[in-house]
Amino acid sequence: MKIDLTFSVTNIDELQLREKNVVVIDVLRSSTTVATALYNGAREIIPVPSIESAVKISGSLFGDVTLRGGERGGKMIQGFNLGNSPLEYNEATVRGKSIIYCTTNGSLAMAKSRYARSMVVAAFVNLSMVTEFLAQLNDDVVILCAGNSTVANGFSLEDVVCGGMIVRKLSEAKNVSLDLSDSALAAQSLYKSFGRSVVKMLKNSTHGKYLAGIGYDNDIAFSAKVDSVPVLPALNGNVIKIRKEEQRVAEPEPGPVAKPNE
Ligand code: MLT
Repeated sequence: MKIDLTFSVTNIDELQLREKNVVVIDVLRSSTTVATALYNGAREIIPVPSIESAVKISGSLFGDVTLRGGERGGKMIQGFNLGNSPLEYNEATVRGKSIIYCTTNGSLAMAKSRYARSMVVAAFVNLSMVTEFLAQLNDDVVILCAGNSTVANGFSLEDVVCGGMIVRKLSEAKNVSLDLSDSALAAQSLYKSFGRSVVKMLKNSTHGKYLAGIGYDNDIAFSAKVDSVPVLPALNGNVIKIRKEEQRVAEPEPGPVAKPNE
């Protein structure tokens, strides 16, 4: 299994992802939010690359079963129903809804993966669901870190450490032999250095400090909880849904409704 990893969505073109198995990571906060929304019963997430496309689509879609969610500068976009805090995507708000989703880097990375052979969305909160899927797939993978477009090289520590944790877990899987690119090897080393305390790493990251500065400290604690949202968001046509075999059969128990102080 060849694993390559790109540090930022701006480093890659959608045609380079054509027919690839892609893992999109945007820990703070798009991947965490998408996993939480689907786990709490959202019907689908429709990632769009720009606010203009979000407005255009919502005009023609679904009526009252559609919500618009996303952010610019970490804050809700004017005219949208939801921002990008995973804590907003609780069951009462999202169950049964289609969510048109537009964020700075995360939804762009998801939209860029539309020609992929497969695409799943990964964060710390659903990490084991992703690594179990990849171990079963046992095929070459591109880990697409959404990154942080507010810094010169777009590097996002939290996304790369999360990618490194995926590499590490796969290296421990039975019947999987890995062939790592330099960037995947580097990510695994960063995980070894920073993975002991995910919440501390998130709090010290550039975007983590920015989010705390605008009042989203709770999102950092929520995003740090490994395997707390056991769901596998996957590309299904040009929307993101829970993969079929992960679909919960019985009437789902309420999802992770985070308490305000969580
Ligand atoms: C992004 O898409 O760049 C992030 O998720 C932004 C955020 O939620 O703060």
